[in-house]
Amino acid sequence: MFATLLHEVPLQGGDVTDGVVRVGDTVRRPASPATPAVHALLRHLEAAGFEGAPRVLGIDGLGREVLSYLPGTTGVSLVAVSDEALAGVAGLLRGFHDATAGFPLSGYRWEGGSNDDAPPQIIGHCDLTPDNVIFRDRAPVAMIDFDLARPTTRLFDVVTTLRHWAPIADPVDRHPLLRGVAVGERLRAFCDVYGVPPRERRRLLELARLRFHRSYDVMRTRAAAGGNWARMWAGGAGERIRRASAWLDSHEDELHAHLV
Ligand SMILES: Nc1ncnc2c1ncn2[C@@H]1O[C@H](COP(=O)(O)OP(=O)(O)O)[C@@H](O)[C@H]1O
Ligand SMILES: [Mg+2]
Repeated sequence: MFATLLHEVPLQGGDVTDGVVRVGDTVRRPASPATPAVHALLRHLEAAGFEGAPRVLGIDGLGREVLSYLPGTTGVSLVAVSDEALAGVAGLLRGFHDATAGFPLSGYRWEGGSNDDAPPQIIGHCDLTPDNVIFRDRAPVAMIDFDLARPTTRLFDVVTTLRHWAPIADPVDRHPLLRGVAVGERLRAFCDVYGVPPRERRRLLELARLRFHRSYDVMRTRAAAGGNWARMWAGGAGERIRRASAWLDSHEDELHAHLV
């Protein structure tokens, strides 16, 4: 018999993980201390019938995690910046949070990161950037890259997602396609589809500010350890957080008016 030699195709689009490759209908990614937790979560999602995440296929001979490859596109595009896409991402996040119900909120080792002070309610994705959402037929159909998933509040994960999709960012740091969008209206539209209750909407921008502050500290600490985080820090990641935070401060009243 002939052994089938499957070609390894590097996958780009992420910032963080070196060595993400496609092999046939699978994706191989380096394992981390959080991999057992992430795999338990992905198996839980599969059992719950949630279609918007890759399936776990195991660990390969090189110690890499093996996930199903989800066809489609990722990243900022004309389609991804549309109102329909934003609504789709809000629905995807809501479906994901609901599907994590019943998954233990303690007892697993997750990657750390900034967080809400309120007690965790769900497992959050905590990194739902445009590079981590798969689009197919113009619709966001799945989330990938659960490396930063962890127990948190629904609102914290909503805020993290809006940071990238509203986006809550200084226009100088936005993708050109997102420079002129009506951020206040997009915050509201996202909350409407997700079903964020009024008292949480009132807390949303305050939590966004807290998150910027904490994310800055977390990133600086990670950067000090070297590797890709250090490269991202040297590339201005910290300054972008500071600018986003200042932009939020100067637009907070106007944005808040859309939420309440
Ligand atoms: N399961 C998957 N199905 C399809 N594409 C994937 C999958 N996993 C990763 N990719 C592609 O590879 C890119 C980088 O992978 P990702 O898991 O996001 O790593 P990183 O930690 O570097 O962001 C993604 O933006 C996406 O384009
Ligand atoms: Mg990614």
